[in-house]
Amino acid sequence: MISITIDNQEILCRDGDTILSAAGEAGIFIPSLCYGQHLPAQGACGLCVVEIAGSNRLLRACATPVCEGMVVDTCSPRAVSARTRLLELQFSSHTGDCIGPCRLACPAGTNCQGYISLIAEGQLINAYETAMAAHPFPGSIARVCPKPCEAKCRRKEHDEAINIAGLKRFIADVGTDYVPHISPDTGKRVAIIGGGPAGLTAAYFLRQAGHKVDVYEQMPKMGGLLRYGIPEYRLPKAVLDLELSVFERMNVGFINGVKLGEDFTLSFLKRRHDAVIVAIGAGVSRTMDIPGEGLSGVVGGIDFLCDVALEKAVSVPQQVAVIGGSNTAIDAARTALRLGAISVTVAYRRTKDEMPADPAEISEAEEEGVKFMFLVAPIEITEENQKASGIRLQKMTLGEADSANRRSPIPLQGQEDWLKADMVITAIGQMVELNRLKILKQSRSAIKMDPVTFKTSKPGVFVIGDVTGLTAYAIEAIGHGRKAAKAVHEYMTAQKPPWEVLPSILCKNEKPPDFTQSPKAPRQINAKTKSPKGFSEIHLNLTTQQAIKEASRCLSCGCGGFNECKLIPLANKYDANPSKYINGKKPEYPINTENPLFTYDANKCVLCGLCVKACSNDRAILTMANRGNKTTVVAHSQSNCAKCGNCQKICPVGARTARGPNV
Ligand SMILES: Cc1cc2nc3c(=O)[nH]c(=O)nc-3n(C[C@H](O)[C@H](O)[C@H](O)COP(=O)(O)OP(=O)(O)OC[C@H]3O[C@@H](n4cnc5c(N)ncnc54)[C@H](O)[C@@H]3O)c2cc1C
Ligand code: SF4
Ligand code: SF4
Ligand code: SF4
Ligand code: FES
Repeated sequence: MISITIDNQEILCRDGDTILSAAGEAGIFIPSLCYGQHLPAQGACGLCVVEIAGSNRLLRACATPVCEGMVVDTCSPRAVSARTRLLELQFSSHTGDCIGPCRLACPAGTNCQGYISLIAEGQLINAYETAMAAHPFPGSIARVCPKPCEAKCRRKEHDEAINIAGLKRFIADVGTDYVPHISPDTGKRVAIIGGGPAGLTAAYFLRQAGHKVDVYEQMPKMGGLLRYGIPEYRLPKAVLDLELSVFERMNVGFINGVKLGEDFTLSFLKRRHDAVIVAIGAGVSRTMDIPGEGLSGVVGGIDFLCDVALEKAVSVPQQVAVIGGSNTAIDAARTALRLGAISVTVAYRRTKDEMPADPAEISEAEEEGVKFMFLVAPIEITEENQKASGIRLQKMTLGEADSANRRSPIPLQGQEDWLKADMVITAIGQMVELNRLKILKQSRSAIKMDPVTFKTSKPGVFVIGDVTGLTAYAIEAIGHGRKAAKAVHEYMTAQKPPWEVLPSILCKNEKPPDFTQSPKAPRQINAKTKSPKGFSEIHLNLTTQQAIKEASRCLSCGCGGFNECKLIPLANKYDANPSKYINGKKPEYPINTENPLFTYDANKCVLCGLCVKACSNDRAILTMANRGNKTTVVAHSQSNCAKCGNCQKICPVGARTARGPNV
């Protein structure tokens, strides 16, 4: 036996071992892309370079035999910087997107490409489980999401985006009794205050990690604004209830009808739990501070919608005015129409183009008969018989664009209007009930927190979702819930979470796709809900045939080898910038699809040579061809392929990917 020292650790190895094999046996990590067990050393990637005492050169660990008394440093600054540079050079000829733009755009990191690919293959249960890996509300989100994924869908650059939300809704109907894997009990306890999408998503992931989780909620049921804000005709409560049933199967504790600040305090929960997450949203209607706001007949948008969701007897007069331009304003207007109002007018201080509400919701509201008054701001609610009778409105014009590139409304002095209304619904925004959280430090009417770790001024107390002022959509609140679950898990256990966390460094380098034009499957309106307007759901689901056809339009932008790729974890470990050495045009190769088992993408090949060496056919089907920056691997007699798949299995990157769904 030979004795050597690697990273100050003395190890015994055999004569004939290389530094790389000896280190591997001792559990010491040396990076490599071109090393294959039982295969001759290639010496191609250079990543295994190490520092050896007495040598003024860095040496390749895979090709350097051990000798008695050798002293090796695997992570000297010189070796680390050489590896970083080699990785960056590797990317200079690498073309591909690790993750598709749709997934990158999703605040919750939903693997849209994965479930779309599975739908195209008809694997609907797997598709549903892929969606559930990102968050527990695929059916609800598919119905209400502003769809940042579709806005970034690459197909949109060529014809129309994939109907990602429609496909998600389609598969959400498939699985109902799914339960994610739950790790063994850790003995840790987490309390979550607020059962909206943020708090529930955090609960979903923390429970998966094996912690005991209890959600404390003031309302009779869970769901937050998904239940008590968004109306039934957009998101049926039955859909939400079905999605909430997964929490029961996971044994998440639901404690309803208890209010922070009245029934319990933050300190009380903190004493009984290892961590507390505050996710109480921003559920208080903002006031306008104008005369007449306290009159009978004036109601906050969110309070109005909540009363309807609670099935209270809400009576709506003939003439209703709604103030605001958000989703809440549109939801309140359409709900008032459904409750019997003859005339509903939304008054907004900017123009239609600046309205923050979803444009599709605005046009559907118009089709239903909601009227709009633009460039008007309320200055007084007028009174008749101690009740609201209308709104005095200041006419406005648009001035300069503000920092968010929205033109600011400016009053047109002396120009007023009046809108008759027996009911005025104010929907100019929501606020946080900060007085419930006085023990946490606050800044600018929000709780002081770290936007990455979600930590507050109190150790062990975290805040997420709309209460932070950093989210305004359900999918953003869900994204917070997922990220915070990771932060809380790491805080309690100092370990990585058991669910997938995307690396921060990714290769983003799109290749123009090759495809045939075909139109998007549109959102279809349920004809029955048009007249008379009721609370039945407005949009229809896709049929199986439509869904499979739509999923087949996906260009599969993300890399099929992402889950197994060794290059991207190394880039993250060594902080290598994938675009550092990219200048000018790279060679572009068509994807080779000759082999029935896998495809070969020379644009991602790192030329490690492993596939050539691993080929089980004696006649060596694979070989390197061409020189310089045009080198690729070619198969010179495809018909002799033994279909063993060795080359695909050994490929360290996504250059050889198995055919099948691109998950
Ligand atoms: C009318 C309306 C329409 C919307 N439409 C859309 C849409 O189409 N698409 C979209 O993506 N987003 C939409 N949103 C926004 C979206 O609903 C929110 O961004 C999201 O629900 C925020 O999630 P959250 O968990 O942070 O808070 P919430 O959903 O507000 O949940 C917070 C929970 O905390 C509870 N809580 C509050 N105070 C206490 C207390 N003191 N003690 C105990 N529990 C408490 C609340 O009852 C609630 O259940 C809409 C919002 C409204 C109001
Ligand atoms: S081969 Fe690796 S680095 Fe390249 S695109 Fe695929 S996952 Fe990303
Ligand atoms: S084409 Fe498919 S993979 Fe590419 S961005 Fe669109 S949905 Fe995602
Ligand atoms: S295709 Fe072959 S040469 Fe290219 S990276 Fe994969 S294993 Fe290495
Ligand atoms: S592993 Fe040594 S050069 Fe690639």
